[in-house]
Amino acid sequence: MSELHDERFIKVRLNSLNAKEPIPFDLYVLINNKQIHYLRAGGMLIQEKLAKFESKAPDSFYLKIEDRAAFKAYVHQHLMGTDLSPQEKAVMLRESSLTLIEELFESPDINRALEESKVVINQFVDLMGSEPDAMAHLIGLSSHDFYTYTHSLDVGVYCLGLAKVLGFSQADLVEMGQGALFHDIGKRHVSAEIITKDGPLNDVEWAQMQRHPQYGLVILNEHNASDALKACCFEHHESVAGNGYPQQLTASEIHPMAKIIALTDTFDALTTQRSYNKPMKPSGALDFMKSKLAGRYDADMLKAMYEVLFHMEK
Ligand SMILES: [Fe+2]
Ligand SMILES: [Fe+2]
Repeated sequence: MSELHDERFIKVRLNSLNAKEPIPFDLYVLINNKQIHYLRAGGMLIQEKLAKFESKAPDSFYLKIEDRAAFKAYVHQHLMGTDLSPQEKAVMLRESSLTLIEELFESPDINRALEESKVVINQFVDLMGSEPDAMAHLIGLSSHDFYTYTHSLDVGVYCLGLAKVLGFSQADLVEMGQGALFHDIGKRHVSAEIITKDGPLNDVEWAQMQRHPQYGLVILNEHNASDALKACCFEHHESVAGNGYPQQLTASEIHPMAKIIALTDTFDALTTQRSYNKPMKPSGALDFMKSKLAGRYDADMLKAMYEVLFHMEK
């Protein structure tokens, strides 16, 4: 995570490249914080060659920034083509999106992040439209990881699945996905020690953590974000029962998209491994939300979530 950031390069993950065919751009690897040329455009990624790396084979490569458009076209062509299976497409989309989202989360340019996130989410919505099994594969790939950017993407995938089952329009799906990617953007203003703390938060830390919806709203208010996006940020810790924060809104007052995030955000937290708790299984997490956290989430949405997680796999 703490690699030196070199503006001349963008990171791509190994799994967002198709090893079965020539790679159409030059690739670099990071050695001692320097990008070293690794593969000439038109070359193949050879497993044996990758294995020769001293410590372990790299999971990420770098491209020259001028090849960014070529990389995007490459991903798009594979997602729309017939060479890859739905599973392989899901992997490529997830992996290529993760590096982009990681980059967006570190960038101070929120307007650009909002624009680019729309492109990312559109790719997910398109894949869901063209490959009926894609959602099940995407859900299967969730990393249950606590980094903000992987968490945001995982929540995004669940939100898209849930919103689709609930009958959202294409345009609403895109806004929903963007809302999910940005729901925790306010955590930028919470100190890193609190975000990454290896254990439960004390009262003072918890109070600061609970301010992230406000911080997020302030950030989005300064940029071209829609009302729905702002609601996703500001209202995703509200509860249908009225005991959420920061405004203690009740059912009808909470934006539907924020309700979806509240549900999928909790689901992701319960199924995520943290050093101080054991992750729950997906079905256990939903049952827990239904019984122990009864009344906090929209009942119809919770029911639909079972459908998203357990009926789409067939
Ligand atoms: Fe949050
Ligand atoms: Fe969250």
